[in-house]
Amino acid sequence: MQKVEVQLGQRSYPIDINTGFSSLVASLADTRQVVIVSNPTVAPLYLAKVNALFSHSPVHILIEDGEAFKSLASFEKILSFLLQQGVSRDVLLVALGGGVIGDLTGFVAASYQRGVRFLQIPTSLLSQVDSSVGGKTAVNHPLGKNMIGAFKQPEQVIISTETLKTLPQREFAAGMAEVVKYALLGDNRFLDWLLQHSEQILQQQPDILAQMIKHCCQMKADIVSRDETEQGERALLNLGHTFGHAIEAFMGYGNWLHGEAVAVGMMMAATLSAHRGWLSQHDVALVSRALQCFSLPVAVPDSMQIADFLPYMKTDKKVKNGQMRFVLLPALGQARLVADVTEAELVQVFG
Ligand code: NAD
Ligand code: GLY
Repeated sequence: MQKVEVQLGQRSYPIDINTGFSSLVASLADTRQVVIVSNPTVAPLYLAKVNALFSHSPVHILIEDGEAFKSLASFEKILSFLLQQGVSRDVLLVALGGGVIGDLTGFVAASYQRGVRFLQIPTSLLSQVDSSVGGKTAVNHPLGKNMIGAFKQPEQVIISTETLKTLPQREFAAGMAEVVKYALLGDNRFLDWLLQHSEQILQQQPDILAQMIKHCCQMKADIVSRDETEQGERALLNLGHTFGHAIEAFMGYGNWLHGEAVAVGMMMAATLSAHRGWLSQHDVALVSRALQCFSLPVAVPDSMQIADFLPYMKTDKKVKNGQMRFVLLPALGQARLVADVTEAELVQVFG
């Protein structure tokens, strides 16, 4: 049983890991009106168990499965459902699923009647180590990933590593990309730990998974507590994401998983960092080894040239005063937001 607290003053909230859902805070469990948002893959597995947590029977809405449904159309569909059901402002919205359901439900929670309470029950590894924590919510636009959204913190995050038993292996690997990300951006010893425990992680040993997930949640909670709305440090959590979001959008949402695209993005960030003399070739090889040991891709998709990345990277949310900004690695375990990467440098390194 593990616990992490996201410290945000009156909006602080707990992340409970492996409490068998019994840790649901009483004020949430007693809510009169509860709406659970899930999808047709996750609902048959866990909806009944989550229903049983509440004193008053929840209603639910299912959104089709996949990144392509993290869309304005799905956002509108949920809002229409809430209005048709006559749902009031004291509702509790529950996100039951991976990052797609979490991001979508969170954005609805931020918008419905100007904001209602929301609970995250993340069921994929990626959502347990990253997306359910910190309050970033969004939907995609065909012209850019996560381009429409809001900051909306949940009231609680409940994580059960039991749910990972039903997660497809490819999705588990995608989640490991975000785990490796934490090590690369802020904790070199964690990188060693991941490599030393790779077998146990791949075998999904519950204690090791809980330890790993807690470490990631703690790192994210600390950063979010210091910089909730990404005025500075939080941008470091986007290591690999500027390249990765371009891959996801160019390849068509859902064809490359978010974590897979981020893995390649982190390799590109490491390569660019080495070009600047910050990382050694040995460091770059270590990044590659860490990603590949969790079955993640490290090479840019064959069909993509660096010119294909540029339109997406120029509309990335980190762009400031028209200047692209990238998270690079001055050393393994340290990250820095860099504003002086030019198109010429990108072409030189990746052209
Ligand atoms: P996802 O939500 O699409 O889930 C992956 C797949 O696994 C889906 O098919 C889902 O139905 C299935 N699934 C989930 N839990 C399962 C379980 N226990 N058993 C069986 N199947 C299960 O994708 P994801 O990787 O969880 O999340 C990716 C999304 O998260 C992206 O949209 C990304 O942009 C977003 N994200 C957001 C943040 C943030 O801070 N808000 C951070 C990182 C990523
Ligand atoms: N996943 C990046 C962030 O939450 O800031």
